[in-house]
Amino acid sequence: MADDGAAAGGHRSTAARRPLPGHGTGLLFGGDYNPEQWPEEVWAEDLRLMVEAGVTMVTVGVFSWARLEPAEGEYDLGWLDRVIDGLHGAGIAVDLATPSAGPPPWLSHTYPESLPVTSEGVRLGYGARESFCPSSPAYREAAARLADVLGRRYTRHPGVVMWHVGNEFGAHVGGCHCPQSAASFRRWLADRYGDVEKLNDAWGTAFWSQHYQSWAEITTPVRAPMPVNPAQQLDFARFTSDEYRACYEAERDVLRGHDPVRPITTNLMLSNCKHLDYWSWADSVDVVANDHYLIAESAVRHIDLALAADLSRSLHGGRPWILMEHSTSAVNWQPRNIAKVPGEMRRNALAHVARGSEGALFFQWRASRRGAEQFHSAMLPHGGTDTRIWREVCELGTDLARLGPVRGSRVVADIALYWDWQSWWATELEYRPVADLSYLERVLTTYTALWNDGHTVDVVGPAGDLAGYRVLVVPSAFLLRRETADRVAAWVAAGGQLLVCFFSGIVDESVTIHPEGFPGPLQTLLGLRVEEFHPLPTGEQVPLDDGSVADLWSEAVVTGTAEVVARFAGGPDEGQPALTRNRVGAGTAWYLATRLDPEHLRGVTRRVLAGAGITRRPDRPDGVEVVRRHGAEHRFTFVLNHTSEPVTLDEPGTDLLTGSTATATTVPAGGVAVLATPLHPDTAAPSREDVRR
Ligand code: GAL
Repeated sequence: MADDGAAAGGHRSTAARRPLPGHGTGLLFGGDYNPEQWPEEVWAEDLRLMVEAGVTMVTVGVFSWARLEPAEGEYDLGWLDRVIDGLHGAGIAVDLATPSAGPPPWLSHTYPESLPVTSEGVRLGYGARESFCPSSPAYREAAARLADVLGRRYTRHPGVVMWHVGNEFGAHVGGCHCPQSAASFRRWLADRYGDVEKLNDAWGTAFWSQHYQSWAEITTPVRAPMPVNPAQQLDFARFTSDEYRACYEAERDVLRGHDPVRPITTNLMLSNCKHLDYWSWADSVDVVANDHYLIAESAVRHIDLALAADLSRSLHGGRPWILMEHSTSAVNWQPRNIAKVPGEMRRNALAHVARGSEGALFFQWRASRRGAEQFHSAMLPHGGTDTRIWREVCELGTDLARLGPVRGSRVVADIALYWDWQSWWATELEYRPVADLSYLERVLTTYTALWNDGHTVDVVGPAGDLAGYRVLVVPSAFLLRRETADRVAAWVAAGGQLLVCFFSGIVDESVTIHPEGFPGPLQTLLGLRVEEFHPLPTGEQVPLDDGSVADLWSEAVVTGTAEVVARFAGGPDEGQPALTRNRVGAGTAWYLATRLDPEHLRGVTRRVLAGAGITRRPDRPDGVEVVRRHGAEHRFTFVLNHTSEPVTLDEPGTDLLTGSTATATTVPAGGVAVLATPLHPDTAAPSREDVRR
């Protein structure tokens, strides 16, 4: 297990992190509160209903810039004083946001150069939100000034327990191409390469006559007649992630200047925001705060949720994190905004808690009557309190109040899943052997195989610490740094069980194909080389000789030391290796050279896990999620029944949600139980053995 303070997927961190505040005796419960959208008469009702629902913390001010600073340098904070005082008086803690995700019209109007520009040269307008260029000095100065005003005013307010900078940096604008951004990009490149010839070498500018004579010639990857240099695109993505982080850090530092104590964070979008490399953000936030929204029409939406939650936990090496936003029911931005079914919101919220969240917050408290999100669900829906959603919200408030004992407890996993935002960027650039290889699909499908067998996994990144994990599953690592491959090889030699899937180890961080051919620095570890890729025509499937079915991808694998476990039984590589296994020291490195159907992929992950002595618990029916959190004195077993039948598990304990104690637990269809079991003093420390049970 990674240490306290280590970003498991990133690097060992020495960052001192302020802990998440607790408030009251339960877990945190609440959401974004936007009182400025309502007349003040409504605020008293908000407070009354928040108390009725058991709300303990709300995020205030996320989109309040125009109200807080109606004209440049003129501040109107009286209303916010009243809001925060009112909440505090009602016993509700405030996560106070800086409003920098919603620059007001005066800012965009006065400083039009602060508006972002697309790669096609279109300057985006205002009238929505996130209309800012992350490199704009005018924007950054204005955001920092307001953070300073807020920090100065509210640092000593006893109701404020946490700071929330901006909102989902980079969610909507995945990079700006204005002249200011281009200038910042050139400075960033000069820092990275020092010398333009080094950049020419890294970017391979001999190709298509792209050689740069000076920094001044370099632009952001603007729309061009053909795909822009892949290394340039990747550096721009890194730069964009860094620029947004610099925006966040600038505001954070201003707040920190006023407030040495409270945690400062921003809401991330782990697992579905492609624009930021969050491993590199891990040290910048005191607490990981994640927003997660279901893709309503996905049959595996609850599994996607579990992945996002595991990633949130893993970003800080297992430390407690907080679900900052999810929805009570439908969102408003999908093609069909399907409402959650009864009980689904509760399962969603408690599934995040099962995987380490210290509570559940929503977007948003009261549904907006006006504006672009008027059809988005909320804790208090348009229909008021005589509604299913309101009743379920109140019930969830009660549940979370009862779950106080799980606070601070940890999830422990001995299986690691590899995740790298930079490889995601590189995989989905233009002109790949197949255009429809989706990074998220590969990761989620592979994760699903593990989830379906009841395994809890941590997520690790390219600089992640593998010590203590018994299995590492790499669904996709097209971009793979040699150092990462070397560390993985050492870990396998020491006894690790590794599964690597096709099209991994192909390029380095400059998107240069590794010199030894495919799969680059993994060749010796996997005991094979790949001579040529043979993508399959759309819709074509090929069998394997073990009865599996594959599609999308086939390739010519030439084994060295690897043993062939299954072969292609059709298609361009008929008779050639499709699944191999290579013994390395005390460990094993498996390679899967194609995209298997989900059920057969599950067969492969089972075989890999079996090598580490990890098997599926036989009494866990499909669709029943069991996750454990380990506290100092208790083990907490979350059982989430996603099926339409009741399930009885041989799990003893006291259900914190109902107070009943039993030796076996029956969880109704769609229901949840959280079983507390006292730990014997000798086994009080979280153990991986326990997790596997
Ligand atoms: C989030 C955002 C919220 C709200 C929500 C709607 O991404 O932070 O402000 O827009 O989406 O689902």
